[in-house]
Amino acid sequence: MSDGKNLWGGRFSGEADPGFTEFNRSFGFDRRLFEVDVRASVAHCDGLASAGVLTTAEALEIKSALKRILKHAQSSSDYFDAAPAEDVHSFVEARLVELIGDSGRKLHTGRSRNDQVATDLRLWLRDEIDVIAIGVRQTQEGLLELAEAHREVAIPGYTHMQRAQPVLLAHWCLAYFEMFARDRERLAEVRKRVNVMPLGAAALAGTSFPIDRAAVARALGFDDVSRNSIDAVSDRDFCIEFISAASIIMTHLSRLAEDIVVYSTTEFGFFELSDAIATGSSLMPQKKNPDSMELVRGKAGRVFGHLTALLAIMKGLPLAYNKDMQEDKEAVFDTVDTVNACLTTTATVLRNVRVNETVARAAASQGYMNATELADYLARKGMPFREAHEMVGRIVMYAIERERELNDLSLEDLKSFSSLIEQDVFQILSLENTLATKSQKAGTAPERVAEALDAARRRLAS
Ligand code: ARG
Repeated sequence: MSDGKNLWGGRFSGEADPGFTEFNRSFGFDRRLFEVDVRASVAHCDGLASAGVLTTAEALEIKSALKRILKHAQSSSDYFDAAPAEDVHSFVEARLVELIGDSGRKLHTGRSRNDQVATDLRLWLRDEIDVIAIGVRQTQEGLLELAEAHREVAIPGYTHMQRAQPVLLAHWCLAYFEMFARDRERLAEVRKRVNVMPLGAAALAGTSFPIDRAAVARALGFDDVSRNSIDAVSDRDFCIEFISAASIIMTHLSRLAEDIVVYSTTEFGFFELSDAIATGSSLMPQKKNPDSMELVRGKAGRVFGHLTALLAIMKGLPLAYNKDMQEDKEAVFDTVDTVNACLTTTATVLRNVRVNETVARAAASQGYMNATELADYLARKGMPFREAHEMVGRIVMYAIERERELNDLSLEDLKSFSSLIEQDVFQILSLENTLATKSQKAGTAPERVAEALDAARRRLAS
């Protein structure tokens, strides 16, 4: 093995086809598990020593060699390219045998690459989930900063992409804040199920060596050990669950991106992206393009692809381990990289969005978004709501024909529809009032939004 041979010499007399050897290889990507593989090997080594399988001297020799391997990898940039390896597990073992010979050959006692790879991937993913959770938090922070910088600004709220009712920009920010809050909860949930140790399951049946699995798990920071050895080496539901949670994060990022793209158009004009996060056109000198947000939106599709791939890979696999499962890692790695990059970019964009308050206010005041207010006004004065709704519809049509907003109509005009309408209607129709009446919890009234902002700050700090 240290001389370039593979891990299963005894049973084989012929040479592997070079093309197949290359095809079979995962070291090109699973080298990312190098550090956790060494960490898990140290813990396994201690487990073997405690079980009396290794002498104290052998265990010390192995652990010090593993440390040297880590150091080598850190100090020499071509360390991984020096020797051809099938995967990260055989790479580390080969280096170990190179350094200390026979005692190195003892480390694989009671262990299989099957429980090893599942352990490594869980260790690796556990830490990456924590990094992603921090990224989600930073995006929430960006949303809060944007909201706090423009507490008073209203924008149109949309349903069916048609102007519906005005909302505060801060309320819009907080909508995404809530989505990301649930994303963090989901990550924490997934992490619990990721943080269970397969090591000790060996190939599939468990090990015959008296290794204290609970002690090894504690040393590696796992919360628990897997309860069934077959399950431990053969399911990748923890990867699927992780990519599912990541897909939901990407969905939220993508919708936020889409809103920002739309709001930055000349047609909407609520936002302008600063030069730091926009690009120009090679042909059209006037262009300022929101590439940053378009890429985030596009990369969501890429992560969904990984989820679909992994579901398809797993659905027909007989128990227990099958080599198909080697395909899990690129999906997980790329998901982690993509989500992290999109979170970072989004947080940067949020810090670089300029809000055009004048345009936003004008938009929030136009388009008959106070029509519901007028219907509610008539309903409060005793008119059945259905009738009020119908009447306001006619008033809107009348206003459209005259190219006026409702509050630009004269009292006489309004009274010609209903004598219930009086001078106080103009206060009712104002943007301020339209916002202020949404004063139930979760509504967009400025005082509720101010409370929600404070609460969000506290939640983020805790
Ligand atoms: N490189 C393999 C993987 O990623 C490691 C496990 C190999 N196990 C085996 N029995 N061939 O899944």
